[in-house]
Amino acid sequence: MLTREKAIEAIESAMAKQQYRAEGASFRDVMVRNRQVSLTVLGASAEVQPALEASLREALAPLGVETVHCRFRDEEAPAAAGGAQSAPAESAAPGGHAGAKADGPVQGHGADLASPLLSSSSGTTFIAVASGKGGVGKSTVTVNLAVALARKGKRVGIIDADIYGFSVPDMMGIEERPVVVNDRVIPIERYGVKVISMGFFVEDNSPIVWRGPMLGKMLRNFFQEIEWGELDYMLLDLPPGTGDVALDVHQIIPQSKEIIVTTPHATAAFVAARAGAMAIKTEHEIIGVVENMSYFVSKSGEKEYVFGRGGGGKLAETLHCDLLAQIPLGAPDNHPSEPDFSPSVYKVDSETGSLYLELAEGVIQRCGK
Ligand SMILES: Nc1ncnc2c1ncn2[C@@H]1O[C@H](COP(=O)(O)OP(=O)(O)O)[C@@H](O)[C@H]1O
Ligand SMILES: [Mg+2]
Repeated sequence: MLTREKAIEAIESAMAKQQYRAEGASFRDVMVRNRQVSLTVLGASAEVQPALEASLREALAPLGVETVHCRFRDEEAPAAAGGAQSAPAESAAPGGHAGAKADGPVQGHGADLASPLLSSSSGTTFIAVASGKGGVGKSTVTVNLAVALARKGKRVGIIDADIYGFSVPDMMGIEERPVVVNDRVIPIERYGVKVISMGFFVEDNSPIVWRGPMLGKMLRNFFQEIEWGELDYMLLDLPPGTGDVALDVHQIIPQSKEIIVTTPHATAAFVAARAGAMAIKTEHEIIGVVENMSYFVSKSGEKEYVFGRGGGGKLAETLHCDLLAQIPLGAPDNHPSEPDFSPSVYKVDSETGSLYLELAEGVIQRCGK
């Protein structure tokens, strides 16, 4: 049987044989799933990467491995603050102890994480919300789906991992910052949803320039150092696109499912299909597609399809999944003078609020709990 130990052995010997090790290359994060192996290779120069990848494939093939996902990265700086322009604030930053915990080569494996949430017995359903590009309403859908699940009595968390454009705290009207108790960060709870955002750990909303390795490290810390308690659902708001973060999520949470958000525009759906293709590649089950900004209801009650029509349906067809919801255009009818004001959470008794409840119901049915 293909085990992680055997895969690591094969990788070790392939790299030794090829003398890549001697040139300073190392690897970590070996994940084995079905007949697929993914790993991070550090310090391999661009010229040797194709040959190295080919020799890993060759070495793993006899074990029955069909696909090898190799992620090449530069050698990591030892401390987490290495490449960030704006390091997370000291007080409540996950990763504050990253120096001590930094993943050395072949030491940090996603599967070994201490976080109880990630253990197979936790019962938490992870849902990564993805889209091909920004601005389609990914964060809005994440926030409102989370709130709707909570309104249905579920225990829900959100990780706002869109480190380039974190927006969940603003959308939910969260102004406070998390506190640390016994070295653990307590998430902010809002509308019954536990929230952790990258935005909590940067000062003054300053833009962040992250190097690739930081993203994975941050995600890991979001599991290890945050006091989540027990959750039924954990929603992840990821950066748009299909890059490294998707692979990080695959490595850290191989059991994650995905929801793909698109607008009804044909081009948008085409772009979103690539995010869907990535989900398929990482073997994340796609729960379905949410079409956002589907139509606008005019004063006379007519639906106007301002961004075109059919993108969500077509995308669902392409990805062989269901179109879970079509959410109309229109901001929530909330006012800053209301207690618990949030700019982006639809009221439970509003038209869109009830569409989100239906979406939550659909998600609960498909996730079997
Ligand atoms: N259904 C909608 N109707 C009106 N505005 C929306 C809708 N969905 C999202 N928006 C707005 O569009 C902008 C982009 O949405 P956001 O959720 O931030 O997208 P993303 O996370 O994909 O970048 C935000 O200003 C948001 O408030
Ligand atoms: Mg967003």
